[in-house]
Amino acid sequence: MKTPSFPHWPTALDVRWEPRRPYAGILNLKSCELQHPEADRLVLEAAARLSAADLRSYPHQDVILNLLANYHGVSPGYVMLTAGSDGAVGLLVDALARPAGRLVLAEPNFEGWRHYAGLRGVPVTAVTTLSGTPPVGDLTPLADAMAAARGSAVVSIANPGSPSGLVTDSAEVYRLAELAERHGHLLVVDECFGEFVDVTHAPLLERFDHLVIIHSYSKTFALAGVRIAAVLACPELLDYLTRFRPDSAVSATGVAMLTQMIGHADRFREVWRDVRLIRGHFVAAVLSAHPTWSVLDPGGNFATFSTGRPEIPPALVRHLAEQRIRIRSLTDLPGLRGCVRFSLASDANMHTVAAQVAAFHPP
Ligand SMILES: Cc1ncc(COP(=O)(O)O)c(C=O)c1O
Repeated sequence: MKTPSFPHWPTALDVRWEPRRPYAGILNLKSCELQHPEADRLVLEAAARLSAADLRSYPHQDVILNLLANYHGVSPGYVMLTAGSDGAVGLLVDALARPAGRLVLAEPNFEGWRHYAGLRGVPVTAVTTLSGTPPVGDLTPLADAMAAARGSAVVSIANPGSPSGLVTDSAEVYRLAELAERHGHLLVVDECFGEFVDVTHAPLLERFDHLVIIHSYSKTFALAGVRIAAVLACPELLDYLTRFRPDSAVSATGVAMLTQMIGHADRFREVWRDVRLIRGHFVAAVLSAHPTWSVLDPGGNFATFSTGRPEIPPALVRHLAEQRIRIRSLTDLPGLRGCVRFSLASDANMHTVAAQVAAFHPP
């Protein structure tokens, strides 16, 4: 490792990351991009309608912010854009977790949280919120950590859970928000996969000003390459956060693409319905070939299976890699021992994958 000779953050030198690599000729079912023929059609049509002004001009956000407020059912003033969820997480760590002095992290969670907390040297209290085999959600350790934390903390959960695919019901999220309020914490809920299973936390914003929602458009609107997400929170909090200028990293092209996707929300609702059907076919085929496995429902545009044995996921990853299919073993993640995840692609692709999974003989 090279240490810069200029003054720097020593904590950043302990942080590791891998640049994304292209996977030409490989069916990539690891990163949960929305791979669906109708979604592809919609993004390509939208890209063809981009104008020169969408590329040459600085972006204006007033129209899109109103459209998004309407889409999420919140008042204008409750929405801010960031360059993907990464942009949101980095901002929340800088602007809120650093001054608070602690991040309470419900695990497993989006890797970005540990990354940005590591960069900034923010202490992390990590709490596993899954227990048992197959895993089920268990928020008691998180509630205990929130009650025990000295001073204020940023508390992060993902709902639907990622990469588990389990959903925390809205009454439980409400109780966490109350707990955050009581103890002076800020609760952040990442609902990246919400639309696939009809989960949204936006209505809670009317009641709680200690609540922040991160809503990515990467998966739901097939815009992962565009890097665009929203932070939903009360206007006072957004007034503070916008001073960090997240708008400067959001492109006019991204704004134009998202504007068109919001206009096609009804067609995307059909896509999300179809993704649920594709998931149902795929899960049934896998479980009929491996009846001792179970699936973690409701998932998202992915299906996570509990195989019951930690050696199975890496062996399955290797087996499928030989067929040029890339999936993710989760067995090293807290609470997900023996689990493996498939992002979903077209029905035809998932038939092929299911056949390959059926041909797999667990070690
Ligand atoms: C829970 C969760 N949030 C956010 C992201 C990434 O979102 P974005 O593409 O907006 O950075 C992921 C990616 O898989 C995720 O699992």
